[in-house]
Amino acid sequence: MRKEVDFLVIGSGVAGLCFALKAANFGKVCMVTKTKMDEGSTRYAQGGIASVVYQPDTYEKHIEDTMVAGDELSDRNIVELTIRESTERVMELVEWGVDFDKNKDGSFALAKEGGHSEFRVLHHKDMTGYEIEEKLILAAQKHANIEIIENRIALEIITQHHLGVEVNRRSNDITCYGAYIYNPETKEVDTILAKITMMATGGLGMVYEHTTNPVVATGDGVAMVYRAKGAVRGMEFVQFHPTSLYNPKESPSFLITEAMRGAGAILKDANGNTFVDKYDERGSLAPRDIVARAIDSEMKRQGVDHVYLDTTLIPKQEIFEHFPNIYAKCLSIGIDITKEMIPVVPVAHYSCGGIQTNEWGATSIINLYASGECASTGLHGANRLASNSLLEALVFSHRACIKAMQTLPSISFCQDVPDWNSEGTVLNEEMVLITQSRKELQTIMSSYVGIVRSNLRLQRAFDRLEILYRETEALYKKSILIPEICELRNMINVGYLIIKHAMDRKESRGLHYSLDYPPYQSQTRK
Ligand code: FAD
Ligand code: SIN
Repeated sequence: MRKEVDFLVIGSGVAGLCFALKAANFGKVCMVTKTKMDEGSTRYAQGGIASVVYQPDTYEKHIEDTMVAGDELSDRNIVELTIRESTERVMELVEWGVDFDKNKDGSFALAKEGGHSEFRVLHHKDMTGYEIEEKLILAAQKHANIEIIENRIALEIITQHHLGVEVNRRSNDITCYGAYIYNPETKEVDTILAKITMMATGGLGMVYEHTTNPVVATGDGVAMVYRAKGAVRGMEFVQFHPTSLYNPKESPSFLITEAMRGAGAILKDANGNTFVDKYDERGSLAPRDIVARAIDSEMKRQGVDHVYLDTTLIPKQEIFEHFPNIYAKCLSIGIDITKEMIPVVPVAHYSCGGIQTNEWGATSIINLYASGECASTGLHGANRLASNSLLEALVFSHRACIKAMQTLPSISFCQDVPDWNSEGTVLNEEMVLITQSRKELQTIMSSYVGIVRSNLRLQRAFDRLEILYRETEALYKKSILIPEICELRNMINVGYLIIKHAMDRKESRGLHYSLDYPPYQSQTRK
């Protein structure tokens, strides 16, 4: 199948949907998504969306909190514009039907999370992402200009490379003409030509053994852009969420929102002793990288597999009203969180790095934009402030649309693009080759490129990954396409980028902590 659209959107989370809803006012939008439309990290977001709504909060305070959390590596210009545009973008969500919790007087009920100096997190109970995803999907389904195609896997973005023109990472005229999209039902690769392509493929948590991310989070967008010689940065900054439910057989891991700590829950060891305050005076509400490291260190010191979150300190009524989903989940495995502590452990949660974009969400590749978790806008620096990611997606999908609609009239379809060439792909190897390599990758990343790193560990990961890379590329070239091999290839690509960027960073900063380098001496972090 070959088709032409004004806008091709790859991914149907908050970033893709927000862009599609806006772009559809200027042209035809085709949105492709890997599995079901609502499957992605957005749907599982619990805590909420950070935004300055009422005094005594101010934009300045939210800007400073973001800079401090980012260990002074965030781009101040990007931080300022994101925070200053936050209220408008969040109110737009309300116009699209998103129902944020309110107080009795009708004002928004605001929560607090680690690293925030004020209560500023708008939420819908502990299911904020579900509420946002549902309402945006409803709006998209109603829009006559949006076509949504489920169960399609974007394989590669199309550039001059596919026309036989050599490009390299220094080329400043690489242009995106759309993408090759695999259809698992027909087993064919479709060519979708687009004037503008939006990459909104979300995160990459699946490269680790344990993650809060859903199974679609295999870093596909970052890998595609990297292979197309686009700019990718900051991949060493993988955020581990301090509190996922310790339930070893469950994958993905179930999150216990940081908003519970904002509401009074405290991290403790098995004996009921607090410990994070030994590492940071802000205790359980310090920025996420600090809390996750404190837990990791304490688990190693005490030789245990998890610590506890004492939620019995939160009034019962607040648990029932604000955290019904977590209450029900824990009860389903025999833990009454109004009476007992929750066993928790840090797991991979969020990629702060990704496809480099400018203040308009434009990538280094012409006519290609990126938004949401796959993008690196400069907002998060070395560590993302909690609940800033849904916000970032809204702000940059909006900005990308403004820029894209200005350039749209001057772009024409590239008719020289060939269809996908699958000649010579005959091998249908046993699945075990793919599933085993995936497990090996996850073990390598978790053992050597986790919360605490060192030069030796990174080198070991690099060497092991190289073997997996060579084997998988050889298999991919010969194999009949199946989703599993495409994902494995992407996961190895992003694993390589995480390791490479970690090796290049000769300091311990934010989420990148190396035993070989002293911590960055922050002027603003205590
Ligand atoms: P996603 O919502 O992950 O969507 C990605 C989309 O891309 C999916 O539709 C997927 O199928 C599709 N896709 C991927 N690869 C391909 C491909 N090759 N071809 C076609 N489609 C593809 N952030 C906050 O700000 N506040 C929170 O409270 C919060 N809580 C969180 C809780 C959990 C459990 C998790 C996992 C994350 C949380 N985050 C939170 C982070 C936030 O949810 C995500 O960063 C954000 O939702 C990402 O949105 P997105 O649109 O970029 O990606
Ligand atoms: C949470 O609810 O703790 C997750 C918030 C986030 O990742 O921003």
